[in-house]
Amino acid sequence: MMRGRGLVNRLAMMVAAMLVSGIAAASARAEDGYDLWLRHAPLDGEVLARLAAFDGPITVDSADPTAALAVDELRLGLDRLRGAQVQPSDTSKPAAFQFECDHRGVKADGAFRVTSSSNQVRITAGAPIGCLYASYAILRELGQGADPATLALDEAPAMPLRMLNHWDNPDGHVERGYSGRSIFDWWHLPEKLDSRMIDYARANASIGINAVAVNNVNARAFMLEPRYIAKLKRLADAWRPYGIRVFLSARFSAPKDIGGLATADPLDPAVQAWWQAKADEIFAAIPDFGGFLVKANSEGQPGPQDYGRSHADGANMLAAALGDRGTVIWRAFVYQAEDTTDRTMQAYDEFVPLDGRFADNVIVQVKNGPLDFQPREPFHPLFGAMPGTRLMLEAQITREYLGQAIGVAYLAPMWKEVLNADTGRGGAVSDIVAPVGMAGVANTGSDRNWTGTHFDQASWYAFGRLAWNPALTSEAIAREWTALTFTRAPEPLRRIAAMMAGSRDIVAQYTAPLGLAHLMGTGHHYGPAPWVCDLERPDWNPCYYHRADRQGIGFDRTAAGSNALAQYAPGVAARWADPATIDSKYLLWFHHVPWDRRIKGGDTLWERLSAEYAWAEINLRARMQGWEALRDHIDAERHAAVAADMARELKDARWWRDASMAYWQSVNGLPLPSGARPIPEPLEAYKARTFPEAPGQ
Ligand code: GCU
Repeated sequence: MMRGRGLVNRLAMMVAAMLVSGIAAASARAEDGYDLWLRHAPLDGEVLARLAAFDGPITVDSADPTAALAVDELRLGLDRLRGAQVQPSDTSKPAAFQFECDHRGVKADGAFRVTSSSNQVRITAGAPIGCLYASYAILRELGQGADPATLALDEAPAMPLRMLNHWDNPDGHVERGYSGRSIFDWWHLPEKLDSRMIDYARANASIGINAVAVNNVNARAFMLEPRYIAKLKRLADAWRPYGIRVFLSARFSAPKDIGGLATADPLDPAVQAWWQAKADEIFAAIPDFGGFLVKANSEGQPGPQDYGRSHADGANMLAAALGDRGTVIWRAFVYQAEDTTDRTMQAYDEFVPLDGRFADNVIVQVKNGPLDFQPREPFHPLFGAMPGTRLMLEAQITREYLGQAIGVAYLAPMWKEVLNADTGRGGAVSDIVAPVGMAGVANTGSDRNWTGTHFDQASWYAFGRLAWNPALTSEAIAREWTALTFTRAPEPLRRIAAMMAGSRDIVAQYTAPLGLAHLMGTGHHYGPAPWVCDLERPDWNPCYYHRADRQGIGFDRTAAGSNALAQYAPGVAARWADPATIDSKYLLWFHHVPWDRRIKGGDTLWERLSAEYAWAEINLRARMQGWEALRDHIDAERHAAVAADMARELKDARWWRDASMAYWQSVNGLPLPSGARPIPEPLEAYKARTFPEAPGQ
């Protein structure tokens, strides 16, 4: 007997030990960033006590799978927030959370209302997807420490299309991806669906994202073949309950590449019939297929101009094939090899004459600025210039030109800059794109934390939140994200959010000071290479953009130069026309300025340029110290990872400064401004550095 009991006790202890180690391992895993902002760290103290009264069941009036998910997500989140104190709900009590997902008084586009009393939260939505969004919103509020008894939300998405564009290739390589391989496992689809695809859908739905283009805009035609449609169908089926529609990037020459036709001319009836049949085939498999995303006649991609046709001819042909079932998203990122006067002017020149000629189910997707996702650009002049066309904003979440998942660069302030910009032509950019939508080039990859660095998750989060509500401030979003991921403690939270707020400005300061652009290494776009002047296409050279010579530096885009300023509304152009009054962050974007010209603040341009680099370094050091001071508030694993990211960024910033200043000196022949740190190596040493290992190329 005794011996028997001893064995039982020992077994019980072993099980307990296994459980404890399991729990320890689970909580260690939980801090690797995989759970993103759906981490739902346990509440404590008064906030936890407030939840105790909400111990009744969760009820829902709908059998829809999305409504079921709304319940599951809320239950999972509440359990986690309650932590160790989780108790089964008391079914004898009235509902603690009551969902009505088919409420006539609420729009069906994802809108929802949440009201609450001392022991009950009532959720009403016009459609199940509104209920799901409400669950995430409730958890977001509670996760920040809100009182469940006073929840009051009344939300609707500002933009109908809230989309991620993946530049993922079917072989698993991600163009401009810095967080591992593609998350899409085409090889094993359709038979096997990686559970990560569900976690991805949850993350997106929780921030309102409702559309995903799964493949690179530099598209492979074979992704339109039946075997890929079957793979895509598996993803579409998995994501449908989360309110996500799939789109495909389509290669314009597909009728030739895979269809056996001699042409892809959009006005050729056989081409039209091919696309019609292709669209029918896709819709038969995926009834809610979103449509095609198209990069045409841009950077070597085929397009309608190959046949003397216009962008509108090409887009409208595809739009006719989709009919009212889907949408063509046609990219305005175009620049011709033949005209290299000022690359930033070409999209406007090509697209404005087509205004009003696109079919109703065509959207023209416009990058935030007229060049290419630089650390800082003025807003794209197409916004406001095509009143007869549906325009959507394309932002880049992945940091192709902003340090590539090294250091910290929270991008919401950059997107707010463009969304808030007054076009002078009927409103701010956000007014123009809100009726249509916003797309973000994704920064996800196979890295355990999804985005390479922990802080890069914040930009994915912020992108979704801004597409849902562009009026949110980047500071408010940073605070939300920090509370959900790192800490709710007010002072550390405040300091982290403050760190995030200025982070993109610092990157701009050391890579693109005073409005310079595109000084990055050719091809990989990592690190400085302002000296490159001999590439075959002039507008691929950093020299083309900075125009540094013995007298000065900067691209003259005034009437005396390319006159790109004239593409903006007169009031906007006037703000930027005078180098003496322009906001210095755009100075060298619009003006060629003598090195010895005294600029705002009293320094010469040369002194100021040198100071910008120095300030960036000071800012980065201060941020590292700030992070170190937060050590006790952050789990060790993520604290160490971020500290390493920051150390690498400081190293890169110093390199940017040294290499750039060495080059500027070689052009202007000036001594370093007094007090400037000496440059440790000769220019040739910086030029000699190569990075065959740089990812994302
Ligand atoms: C940039 C980027 C390319 C990408 C292109 C695009 O030029 O470097 O990799 O294909 O943008 O937006 O189409």
